[in-house]
Amino acid sequence: MRPDTGRKEKGMNWNHNIAPLLEKGSLTREEARKLLACAEEKEAVKKVTEEAVKIRKQHYGDKVFVRGLIEFTNYCKNNCYYCGIRRDNSHVSRYRLTEEEILECCASGYKLGFRTFVLQGGEDGWYTDDRMVWLVSQIKKTYPDCALTLSIGERSREAYQRFREAGADRYLLRHETARQDHYERLHPKEMSLANRKQCLYWLKELGYQVGAGFMVGSPGQTMDSLVEDLMFLQELQPEMAGVGPFVPHHETPFGKEPAGRVDLTLFLLSVIRILLPNVLLPATTALGTLDGNGREKGLAAGANVLMPNLSPLQNRKKYDLYDNKISTGEEAAECLSSLEKRVAKAGYRLVYERGDFAGRIV
Ligand code: 5AD
Repeated sequence: MRPDTGRKEKGMNWNHNIAPLLEKGSLTREEARKLLACAEEKEAVKKVTEEAVKIRKQHYGDKVFVRGLIEFTNYCKNNCYYCGIRRDNSHVSRYRLTEEEILECCASGYKLGFRTFVLQGGEDGWYTDDRMVWLVSQIKKTYPDCALTLSIGERSREAYQRFREAGADRYLLRHETARQDHYERLHPKEMSLANRKQCLYWLKELGYQVGAGFMVGSPGQTMDSLVEDLMFLQELQPEMAGVGPFVPHHETPFGKEPAGRVDLTLFLLSVIRILLPNVLLPATTALGTLDGNGREKGLAAGANVLMPNLSPLQNRKKYDLYDNKISTGEEAAECLSSLEKRVAKAGYRLVYERGDFAGRIV
């Protein structure tokens, strides 16, 4: 006979472990720990997923928002151990779109129907605060009906304030992990979790809709780090949360590490949907990279945003954050009609409106 592994007891307890999330919609650290221990319990995951889908529906119906992603520079001064475009990766063919090229991306995106543009890039010194201010003002002047999201890493409070005054509406800055020791495992010593968090609080104070987030399954991650990630999201109350699996990139120090788990990512998406009911939650490209149906699965777990790529075709392969990053399928902006069909088949409706955070007047 197999020894008693305690499974039975765990099986009996899962209802109790998911109850705080389902009943209060918030978690203490201890409750979060117990909840995450249920990640392997099929029935528990099912119940949490059902609740997440219900809540998403209450707040956003069957809408899935699209954002046009413009990866405008892959130069980066940082050396994060997980990231394919880290400074020390000399195999990257570096590119930087000019301001004119970025404006052209917006023009073609606008024609396709996009009403949110996300300017994402490495931390590239060429794009000084002044250049960014000019670019933001140009885009907002040309497309006053569009939302503009920046995702260009850590800058000064003053810079964030200037971008905001120039018209930027939203800012994505994943915190990557909320545990100090784990942060140090993922980043060289010149980077700090404290500064990352400080940036997020500044952005909030300045009135941005803010997106934080983390990778699932990054090297050194434990259930305790995920608990801290949930605690941090709960404290920050971001309007958006970017959560996707870690995917190794062969030219990084983590090239031989295993990828994050798709099922755990999906469970976390559901938990976050319940913790932050009206959060804008993308089904990420990383999820779609690890699993051909990853993004549909993300939507079925509570996600409600997709971010097709608007960058010029010849540059896409170069924005190589991790291996096999998809770039010419339905995540590509030219393939919107096939994306629309896929989303409809999954039971949702792709919409082009700027899709602000529900519950806040902007
Ligand atoms: N796997 C998955 N996500 C990654 N990112 C960077 N490198 C990887 C990787 N190897 C994510 C980071 C960053 C976002 C732009 O891409 O979380 O914030």
